[in-house]
Amino acid sequence: MPDVRVICAIGRSGQLGLHGGMPWEGEPDRAFVEDVERFFEITRGHVVICGPRTFAAFPDFARRTRTIVEIRSHEAPQAVLSRFAGRVVFVGGGPRVWDVYAPFVRHWDVNTLPYDGEADTWFDPAWLVAGGRFKR
Ligand SMILES: NC(=O)c1ccc[n+]([C@@H]2O[C@H](COP(=O)([O-])OP(=O)(O)OC[C@H]3O[C@@H](n4cnc5c(N)ncnc54)[C@H](OP(=O)(O)O)[C@@H]3O)[C@@H](O)[C@H]2O)c1
Repeated sequence: MPDVRVICAIGRSGQLGLHGGMPWEGEPDRAFVEDVERFFEITRGHVVICGPRTFAAFPDFARRTRTIVEIRSHEAPQAVLSRFAGRVVFVGGGPRVWDVYAPFVRHWDVNTLPYDGEADTWFDPAWLVAGGRFKR
C-alpha cells in the first residue's frame, strides 16, 4: 500500500467548493495564492488521484511535475491504491472521493483560509476519524 495523504483548503466554516471551483477563486489575498503554491510544492514528484472535475481543474504545468490520475466510482479504492505501492499518494477529492478514501488516509493537511462566503460543498470532519475501529 502507498502512503496515503490529503492536502486540502477550507474556508472558516469548512467551505470546500462552489459551482465546480474553489469558493475563493480569484481572491487576491496572499493567503490564497500561498495555499496554491504550497499544494504544488508538497505534491511535486508524487501521485495525485482525484475525481473527474478535480482532475480537469489542474493546469498542464502541474501534470509535468507530478502524476495526476483520474479515478472513477466503479474502481475499488484498494485496487486503485495498490497500483501505487511504495509511493506517496494524495487523494485530491472532491468530497465524494474523500467519503470513500478517508479510511485509508494516514495524514490530513487542512489549511483554513480567511473565507466566510458561500459554498455548495463542505469539509466533513468525520473524514478525519474514518479509519478508526470504533464507529458511533
Ligand atoms: N478546497 C479544496 O481543497 C478542494 C479540493 C478538491 C475539490 N474541491 C472542490 O470540490 C468540487 C468538485 O468536487 P466533486 O466531488 O463535485 O467532483 P469530482 O472531483 O469529479 O469528484 C467526484 C467524482 O469522483 C468520482 N469518483 C471516483 N472514485 C470514486 C469513488 N470511489 N466513490 C465515489 N465517487 C468516485 C465520481 O465520478 P464518477 O461516478 O463519474 O466516476 C464522483 O462524482 C469543486 O467545487 C472543487 O473546487 C475543493
